Amino acid sequence: MVFIFPIDRIVSRNIFFITLERMQKVRILILYYSLSGQSRGLVKSFSEGLKTFPVHVHIEQIKPQKPLIFPFKGIMPTLKMMLQTFLRVRIPIQPLSNQCFETYDHVILAGPTWSYNPSGPILSLIDEYGSNVLAKAVVTPIISCRGYYRLHDYLLRKQLLKHSSRVEPSLIYKHPISEPWSTLGVFLKSAGYHPERNGWLKKYYPRFGHSAEQFATLTEAGATYGANCISRKLTDSSPG
Ligand SMILES: Cc1cc2nc3c(=O)[nH]c(=O)nc-3n(C[C@H](O)[C@H](O)[C@H](O)COP(=O)(O)O)c2cc1C
Repeated sequence: MVFIFPIDRIVSRNIFFITLERMQKVRILILYYSLSGQSRGLVKSFSEGLKTFPVHVHIEQIKPQKPLIFPFKGIMPTLKMMLQTFLRVRIPIQPLSNQCFETYDHVILAGPTWSYNPSGPILSLIDEYGSNVLAKAVVTPIISCRGYYRLHDYLLRKQLLKHSSRVEPSLIYKHPISEPWSTLGVFLKSAGYHPERNGWLKKYYPRFGHSAEQFATLTEAGATYGANCISRKLTDSSPG
């Protein structure tokens, strides 16, 4: 039996891989803050998708100077935290590692919504690093919330654009629980209770946070993002 190979396809495929090899790798910096682990999970899933492509990824966790403990151990500390975050009180953060100051093509900035705002550590990050780390690359925010993210998204973009960043549409992830149970559940969880284990409440609030399906979607989003970054870089670096 004789096989006839489509030679033009083989040549163009090889040229594609040779170009990819010669091209400098796309460099992506992922900065995230996560108090109760949800944004961390989203970042993990997203980066798994990204890493299916030959891209360079550095993941940096933003750490408050004074560690914040979740849950807040009681109703009053939770209410206090909510008020502080509503007033956009900054939470001082530890310095970023040297790797964050290298050159990146893209920055992913992930974190939770707190009292309709970006969280205190993310606000500090933009104050301190908006004009250097975040200003040079295309920034894509990832927002983890129970459902009310609009003001957060608007303020975050406004802050980032002040530092002349190019900001892409945010990837928004809401807890897949209907209201009012989501608000009640997040509040009780933050105060140190376990609504998902409560006899009657668990029917309406079976789980805190994002679902396995959402994390899987994020892996796909990461892969699509990686592919887009590469094709953009190929277009930018192609002569003419
Ligand atoms: C102090 C506090 C305030 C919050 N305020 C909001 C809010 O205004 N809107 C919302 O949708 N979710 C709000 N949430 C829920 C978080 O955004 C949500 O649980 C998120 O998934 C947490 O992400 P993390 O685990 O990465 O910290 C709040 C949570 C906390 C602890």
